[in-house]
Amino acid sequence: MTTALITGATAGIGAAFARRLAGDGHDLVLVARDTERLTAAAAALADRFGVRTEVLTADLATEAGIGAVEERLWDGERPIGILVNNAGFGNKGAYLSVPLEQELDMVKVHIEAVLRLTTAAVPGMRERGFGGVVNVASVAAFVPRGTYGASKAWMVNFTLGAARDLAGSGVRLLALCPGFTRTEFHQRAGMGTRNIPAWGWLSAERVVDEALRDLARGRSLSVPSRRYKLVVAIARLLPAGGLGGLSSKAARTYRAD
Ligand SMILES: NC(=O)c1ccc[n+]([C@@H]2O[C@H](COP(=O)([O-])OP(=O)(O)OC[C@H]3O[C@@H](n4cnc5c(N)ncnc54)[C@H](OP(=O)(O)O)[C@@H]3O)[C@@H](O)[C@H]2O)c1
Repeated sequence: MTTALITGATAGIGAAFARRLAGDGHDLVLVARDTERLTAAAAALADRFGVRTEVLTADLATEAGIGAVEERLWDGERPIGILVNNAGFGNKGAYLSVPLEQELDMVKVHIEAVLRLTTAAVPGMRERGFGGVVNVASVAAFVPRGTYGASKAWMVNFTLGAARDLAGSGVRLLALCPGFTRTEFHQRAGMGTRNIPAWGWLSAERVVDEALRDLARGRSLSVPSRRYKLVVAIARLLPAGGLGGLSSKAARTYRAD
């Protein structure tokens, strides 16, 4: 068993990764901004699963936060075998209604942090001939909708390209694309969820199970559930922007909630 570093490990999908990986016997490094919540999560996981846990308070929208996590990943004496780039958030509203500062924070967390943390982790993994990186993107990567979808599309393309470049090295990279998942995400973004049909919801546990199964099978793209595999297949067949109208309608509806 190895040590897994998970960003955004205190809630939702990241917390589900932490429970599952601790259950499988991995030691953990938990990263998020809220130290109190991190410490409580780390203590609960160590107690329940008997693994070693470490906390790292870092805001990945800042240079200092990304730098602190990079330093931990560079530490060859305490190697990280699995990196889960999961921290992320949504912005409510369409283009121009979201302040530029928030858009830039999103670019920093979803793109710059993912690029820098992957680049900090992978050379050591390649040297050791073993490692896994899961980049938590979204089904939104396939649906044009503002900076959120664009940043997740970057994540998918970056991960698929890097996975191909590292083929045969023992390092696996996976772009995970969940659909709507029950977490704190929508509430934190101030988005309503009334218009999301019951069939659209996934549990964080299911998302994590399918992701780790796909990683073990050597896949580089994971879309949990048959229904979302179908959504992605349709989105990829449609001309660019084909689902954009639908998603902007959804965005308008969210604003009306
Ligand atoms: N829920 C969905 O429907 C859905 C669907 C597709 C993809 N996703 C993606 O899944 C990932 C996890 O989202 P979730 O749904 O689990 O959200 P969540 O329940 O809101 O959890 C977000 C986690 O990220 C941390 N975080 C947020 N901003 C951060 C920052 N600047 N620096 C460091 N940590 C930060 C939060 O902790 P702190 O606040 O303490 O920092 C928290 O631990 C995101 O990348 C999201 O885009 C979600």
